[in-house]
Amino acid sequence: MTGPRWEARADLVVVGTGVAGLTAALTAVELGLRVLVVTKGGPGDGNTPHAQGGVAVVLPAAHEPGDTVERHARDTRVAGAGLCEEDAVEQIVTYGPDAVDRLRRTGARFDTGDDNALARTREGGHGAFRILRAGGDATGAEVERALLAAARDHRVAVLTGHTALDVLRTPGGEVAGLAVLDSAAIPGLISAPAVLLATGGLGQLYQATSNAEGATGDGLALALRGGASLADLEFVQFHPTVLFTGSGARGRRPLVTEAVRGEGGILVDSRGERVMAGVHPLADLAPRDVVAAAITRRMAETGSDHVLLDATHFGAQAFRRRFPTVHATCAAIGVDPAREPIPVAPAAHFACGGVVATVDGRTDVRGLYAAGEVARTGLHGANRLASNSLLEGLVVGERAARAAAADLRERTAPAPDAASWPNRPAAVADRSVLQRAMSRHAGIGRTAAGLAEAARVIAADARHRPLDATSTVLDATSTVEDAALTLVAEALLGAAAERRETRGCHVRTDFPGTDDITWGRSTTVRLDAATGRPSVHRPVPVGGAA
Ligand code: SIN
Repeated sequence: MTGPRWEARADLVVVGTGVAGLTAALTAVELGLRVLVVTKGGPGDGNTPHAQGGVAVVLPAAHEPGDTVERHARDTRVAGAGLCEEDAVEQIVTYGPDAVDRLRRTGARFDTGDDNALARTREGGHGAFRILRAGGDATGAEVERALLAAARDHRVAVLTGHTALDVLRTPGGEVAGLAVLDSAAIPGLISAPAVLLATGGLGQLYQATSNAEGATGDGLALALRGGASLADLEFVQFHPTVLFTGSGARGRRPLVTEAVRGEGGILVDSRGERVMAGVHPLADLAPRDVVAAAITRRMAETGSDHVLLDATHFGAQAFRRRFPTVHATCAAIGVDPAREPIPVAPAAHFACGGVVATVDGRTDVRGLYAAGEVARTGLHGANRLASNSLLEGLVVGERAARAAAADLRERTAPAPDAASWPNRPAAVADRSVLQRAMSRHAGIGRTAAGLAEAARVIAADARHRPLDATSTVLDATSTVEDAALTLVAEALLGAAAERRETRGCHVRTDFPGTDDITWGRSTTVRLDAATGRPSVHRPVPVGGAA
């Protein structure tokens, strides 16, 4: 790549059009910033529209008797298995009601009950009915609809079909803009003193995932190459109940929301025996990591590739009314949930780790912000509590825009360092080779030998390619995605190999115990300046030196 062939300018570039990105963009526009939103697909192509369960929040005037913000915070910390950051949990959970109010003023409509009060459901790890929902089981779709409509009303500029290549920096290391391929794969430069990554997750590292096709870890790769740190990358949450459509099924799989279990659904194995009996005091409503691991063990014991979710107690009308999305996806494979149990299996769902960021979205690179699933604020620790992610996107999205606006008042418009233009070819492995290795060795149940084998297979397959040397737009985007997947896989495998214990979503069969003294802290990953490869920094043991 020789350099940019087109140029644009903004105060803030937002990469991504999910809940965090759109919330940030709308806030920034209200604050008078010139905002450009960049997305490689179309608006609404990310993970947000697929979120079913809802938004976990304790509203002052509409909560279960006895439920409190503090109880929500406690459930979040328990699910997070010792790695949540107290301050992040407290701030995000406490600010939740304001963020939901704001979203409702933006136009989002949540379901109400017969009494006209907001309806609430429950999911794994929650000690109360505190999850707001929309369209029965289509909460994310309603959130996305409302935010996109507001973005159109406020004339937020959205560049669709534009793929972010690299964050550009000044010689002093501050953000100066973003290198982008436009919709004809022509490289361009958006000069901006602030870039917010809101690119979502990394589910496409695995063969089966609940994530959108575009969830290829792009923001994590941009952050690493831009000099920022990642943390808790080893904690990939597998959703316990993704619709099982056959052992060869690949790519995005439809969710069967945890709210089905929240309202009485029961997991049984192929012999009809309950999966969660005796495993955890909350049984089928245990935190997600516990349920997904128990299902995985039971599938291995019974030699089956799925288990069954029995929701027949709802009856035909009630199930269809309460869970229209799940009902439709079941019907598409010939399953009637009112009459027979739903076949389900765990699949990659959520990155609990990500770009190290404060609850105001600030990263350790001046001018670079992160919000939503791509960010690691410390809310989720080693395992995210169900339905805390839309909440986090709303809260941190807004706060990141406010932080960027405040920081811009103290900065002059920077000029990018010519040397930071992305000239180096990147390692790119074949996606199906990478996904097979990650699914086999970096899912639920990892060993040192397996993680090393996955790293070896991916490295052996990778070829160095310039990211824009492609003949078609589709090829350009998928090459950038594959480069991100390759870099993120290497970083994740390194972090998972380093953490020699089992905690939350990170299950090491060769280290089944949890060791709070050595591992009760986050591992971080940075790009080594000399090798250009990810290097993992193990945590400082509690009370000891590094
Ligand atoms: C679900 O509805 O089960 C998914 C919600 C979430 O991942 O928080």
